[in-house]
Amino acid sequence: MSTPETTAPEPIAPDAGTAADRPLLRVRDLTVSFTTATGDVDVVKRLGFDLPRGGALGIVGESGSGKSMTSLAIMDLLPKGAKRTGSIELDGTELTGLRERQMQAVRGDRIAMVFQDPLSSLNPYYTVGTQIAEAYRAHRTGVTRRQARRIAIEAMERVHIQDAARRVDHYPHQFSGGMRQRVMIAMTLSMEPDLIIADEPTTALDVTVQAQILDLLAEIRRDTGAGLILITHDLAVVSEVADQIIVMRGGDLVEQGTAERIFCDPQADYTRMLLDAVPRIDDEIGQLRTITTEEDR
Ligand SMILES: Nc1ncnc2c1ncn2[C@@H]1O[C@H](COP(=O)(O)OP(=O)(O)OP(=O)(O)O)[C@@H](O)[C@H]1O
Ligand SMILES: [Mg+2]
Repeated sequence: MSTPETTAPEPIAPDAGTAADRPLLRVRDLTVSFTTATGDVDVVKRLGFDLPRGGALGIVGESGSGKSMTSLAIMDLLPKGAKRTGSIELDGTELTGLRERQMQAVRGDRIAMVFQDPLSSLNPYYTVGTQIAEAYRAHRTGVTRRQARRIAIEAMERVHIQDAARRVDHYPHQFSGGMRQRVMIAMTLSMEPDLIIADEPTTALDVTVQAQILDLLAEIRRDTGAGLILITHDLAVVSEVADQIIVMRGGDLVEQGTAERIFCDPQADYTRMLLDAVPRIDDEIGQLRTITTEEDR
C-alpha cells in the first residue's frame, strides 16, 4: 500500500522547511468519509499532494471519483454526514485545526472557489457590482461602498467584461453563462487570494466560451501568481492550464505527474482510458463514457 509520503510530487524535497520553498498547499493522508446506514464509506482515500507557489494543479477523474469532496474538504465545506481526517497545510498553517471563524477568514481571503454553476452562487436580486463589492467589503475592514464599487469595476475589467462601468449595475440574469462565470472570477480576483480552486468552471459552457474562460484562468494565474487547482473530468481542459495533474478514481490517487508526462506517457490504464475518452465536441456537454479498465476488480 502506498503511503502519503510516496504520493507527493517529485519537485518538493521531503525536508523542504523554509517559507520560500515550502509548498503553498500541502495535503497529506486526506480521507473523506460518509456515515451511511451500512457503515462508513471513504470517498477520498489518503490523498496526498503538493501545490507549489504559483503552480497550477489539475485534478481529473470520472464522475464520483472524489474531486469535489477533495476541494470541499480543503475549504472545510463538506456536506452534512461527511467527515475528513488528515492534514491540509496552507503556507505552513494547518487548516484542519482551525475554528469556523478562522476558517471563514481563510475562505475568500486566501482561498477562493469558482463553481460550475455561477447562477447558483450569484444572488438574482442584487446587481453583480453590489455582490462583488459586498463580498470584498466583508473581508476588508474600512472600505467604503464607493471604493468597493471601484474595485468591482476594475475586477470586471480584468476579466475582460466590456463596458464594466455600466455592466456593474446589471443583474445576473442580464449576463450570459460565460459572462456570469467571468463575474464569479472577478469576485474571486478582487479578494486577491493565494489559491483559486475552480471546480468544473467550464462544464456548463459551450466550447468556444470554455476556451475563453480557460484562457482567462491561465492569464490570471500568470499575472497574479495565485496558485490554481482546476477540477474537471475532462483531460483536454486541464491540459490547457495545469502544469501538474493528479488522476483520481473511486477516491484513490491513480497517477500524478506533469501535464506533459501524463499526456505523452500515461502509466495507468485508467489514465489512458481517460485520454481516449476525451469528449468530442459533438458529445453532450458534461457527459463522459463509463470506463472499465484492467484495474477494475
Ligand atoms: N451526501 C452524500 N452521501 C453519501 N455519499 C456522497 C454524498 N455526496 C457525495 N457522495 C459520494 O462521494 C463520492 C465523491 O463525490 P464527488 O462529488 O467528490 O465526485 P466528483 O469527482 O466531484 O464527481 P463529478 O465529476 O460528478 O462532480 C461519490 O461517489 C458520491 O456518490
Ligand atoms: Mg464534482
